[in-house]
Amino acid sequence: MCGIVGYIGDQEAAGFLLDGLEKLEYRGYDSAGIAVFNGTNIRVEKCVGRLEELKQKIAHDMPGGAMGIGHTRWATHGRPSDRNSHPHADESGNFVVVHNGIIENYLRLKEELIDKGHHFASETDTEVVAHLMAEHYNGDFEATVKKVLSIISGSYSLVFMCAHEPDKLICTKQDNPLVIGLGEGENFIASDIPAIINHTRKTYILSDGELAIVKKDSVWVQNRDGVPISKKVFEVHWDAEAAEKGGFDHFMIKEINEQPRAVRDTMTGRVAKDETGIVFEELNWTADEMSAINKIFIVACGTAYHAGVVGKYYLEQLARIPVEVDIASEFRYRSPLVDENTLAIVISQSGETSDTLAALKEAKRLGARTLAVTNVVGSSIAREADQVVYTYAGPEIAVASTKAYTTQLVTMLMLAIYVGELRGALPAERAQELCRGLHRLPEQIEDMLSDMDSVKTFAQKYGYSEDVFFIGRSLDYAVALEGSLKLKEISYIHAEAYAAGELKHGTLALITEGVPVIALATQYDVYEKTLSNIKEVKARDAVVIGLALTGDESIAKYVDHVIFIPATDKYLAPILAVVPLQLLAYYAATTRGCDVDKPRNLAKSVTVE
Ligand code: AGP
Repeated sequence: MCGIVGYIGDQEAAGFLLDGLEKLEYRGYDSAGIAVFNGTNIRVEKCVGRLEELKQKIAHDMPGGAMGIGHTRWATHGRPSDRNSHPHADESGNFVVVHNGIIENYLRLKEELIDKGHHFASETDTEVVAHLMAEHYNGDFEATVKKVLSIISGSYSLVFMCAHEPDKLICTKQDNPLVIGLGEGENFIASDIPAIINHTRKTYILSDGELAIVKKDSVWVQNRDGVPISKKVFEVHWDAEAAEKGGFDHFMIKEINEQPRAVRDTMTGRVAKDETGIVFEELNWTADEMSAINKIFIVACGTAYHAGVVGKYYLEQLARIPVEVDIASEFRYRSPLVDENTLAIVISQSGETSDTLAALKEAKRLGARTLAVTNVVGSSIAREADQVVYTYAGPEIAVASTKAYTTQLVTMLMLAIYVGELRGALPAERAQELCRGLHRLPEQIEDMLSDMDSVKTFAQKYGYSEDVFFIGRSLDYAVALEGSLKLKEISYIHAEAYAAGELKHGTLALITEGVPVIALATQYDVYEKTLSNIKEVKARDAVVIGLALTGDESIAKYVDHVIFIPATDKYLAPILAVVPLQLLAYYAATTRGCDVDKPRNLAKSVTVE
């Protein structure tokens, strides 16, 4: 997610803007910029790279003026570059905007504007907003903003400047955060509280659809129809560090709670609003191309590898293509059977994992067509692959990957539906049914997150166990792999995931009295078999926590505790089932006093072999 700041008052705006952007650096970004009204026009200064480079660029010629906006960009549309950096202006320079989120219909709007003679300087979705302001400006800044908001769709926090009316900033939000800092004779805007708490602790937290007219001595909040809204002042009592985590104790729990937005953003523009199917504008594959593919390799490391294991089930069962999933460090040295009819999909949150990058290069050398699924625009893996599908999880700070994993699963499911339809392997009504299920995910995750006290209780009760086992069959086994990694990497408990049907071939010897076993039982087609495996471990006096679909009235008879997730399609269940497992790991780690965000021996991105 990008960082946004705005200032209007009597002080020099540039100072606040740069200081505010510095406070937002922890969010991760690839470029930065500011725009300041200097009394006659709006001066924009921006560049790719760190904030320090922007500061050096303007050090000897700081933009003067008492009203301005600033931005740190986490690229989504258009790779990191000077011209793709924010703020963005129309050709006259009279309309300038900064934006966080995704303008879903920007391509069509951009084409229409180009047909009307507009010339664009960047590849971004954001620049379209500035040109729309110029196109529709009728002498009234506020009315023009409302007109533009009625045209665009998607998720956004937006702050607008207009050289014709330099006594105000206008801002609004939809599915992305935006706060207004209330000062004395000055007011502030920010995407995140850390940017303003050194100046004021009195804030308005904007809600979706609200629009604020921010002057130096007044803030007027209204809805899109102009109906005034009286906002309660929210006093911020966090210190700077707590503010970076949005009030959460750790980045990991903050990112677990960001999953509804991350999943929603990753689906934006891809799951058709009318739920007729999946669109990947960045792929534009044809039926012939897909029919020519006779094998898929999915290659990754760690959590991304676990997303690939789920992806195998999706692609084989929905698109009917043979799929091999490989750990990247194994793939690159085992002379895999790859040729021009192979599609190699590499998954990587950071896009910089050395083993995955090397595996990608090996697949290309062997003649495969390559696709990257990554969270970082312009990353090494994104640049190396023939094609890229981005997840829009936003920066993931905690070493333990959470929101990246759920967005990878969503992406793999969308890909499987997309390829399945192209190959004629997936009936339209089944595709529509899955798309309806995808649309429900953000709300279902929200609901789960609001009711997870039982998970915290289990984690506190069993958090001092030395060994924990995760078992499941089919897609439940695939999710068990991720649950096990989450627990071991942040709580340091020895955890193992096992295919439930495999227990009797050895691991059952380790199941003794009191050993906690997390049994995933969401897959109805193997449910009875899973119950048998639960009975196996219960017969050895294990403590079993079942994870099942709401409405399952059997499982409670066979386990010690049950965690329910919303009833859903078998293919969507993994995306929901992992959330309580992430929280189980988190609370076990906090119970044990572990360093949740920076676990021992681990790095966020493993850029060495
Ligand atoms: C996941 O919680 C771990 N931090 C680690 O396994 C990670 O998933 C792995 O290193 C792959 O990273 P990537 O997705 O950035 O390639």
